[in-house]
Amino acid sequence: MKKLQLTLVFATSTTSLGCGHVFANGYYCFFSILMSFAIYPGTFDPVTNGHLDVLERASRIFDHVLVAISVDNSGKKNAFDCETRVKLVEENIGQFKNVSAEPFNGLLVDYAKSKGAKILVRGLRAVSDFEYEFQMAQMNRHLDAELETIFLMPNEKYFYTSSSLIKQVHLFGGRESGLVPENVSSALKKLAAEKSAS
Ligand code: COA
Repeated sequence: MKKLQLTLVFATSTTSLGCGHVFANGYYCFFSILMSFAIYPGTFDPVTNGHLDVLERASRIFDHVLVAISVDNSGKKNAFDCETRVKLVEENIGQFKNVSAEPFNGLLVDYAKSKGAKILVRGLRAVSDFEYEFQMAQMNRHLDAELETIFLMPNEKYFYTSSSLIKQVHLFGGRESGLVPENVSSALKKLAAEKSAS
């Protein structure tokens, strides 16, 4: 019997939705339908337009993107608590039909496994990001060989944007407009007012 194998792969990933066997005129067809799902992890303290630019690119590649906001990022002292960081992200993802957000705790690889994710998305801006990202991707691969990290470049106008720089710029005059969404600008104002009152 002649055998014809068709494998339909819609994207380079991961979660099998189903498969079927079709017999017709002596031909055997195998359909394997894959659905792509990726996690975009980070501290997002706070989310910037650069993050949203990366997210928009990821949302065009994957069927679903989950923004995973680290509750506690050892080594970093966050300006916003996790609840606020999640809220600031959530208020900006309504524009994407296939993006959701939630906090996560503990090791990223464990979290990704619990979600059935095999792909992590990270933004790569200037060359200076590379070493840090390279180390993190290698460590994650060491911890889970099935987890791949893919890197997306934001628009070059965001190459030098970072959450710390945004916070500094705000502190000295609040000229961060164009670099962060409006809800983040308001949250920065509120944070500065709270600080000066205390
Ligand atoms: N536009 C603007 N800024 C961007 C950006 C973009 N597209 N992409 C990254 N950045 C900036 C952020 O603003 C941030 O700036 P800051 O350092 O001034 O605050 C910096 O780049 C990195 O931030 P982010 O992308 O949010 O990542 P992170 O390094 O804070 O997050 C985790 C790292 C949460 C993914 C990592 O620590 C983790 O996985 N933690 C869980 C514990 C774990 O598994 N550890 C082992 C990891 S190997």
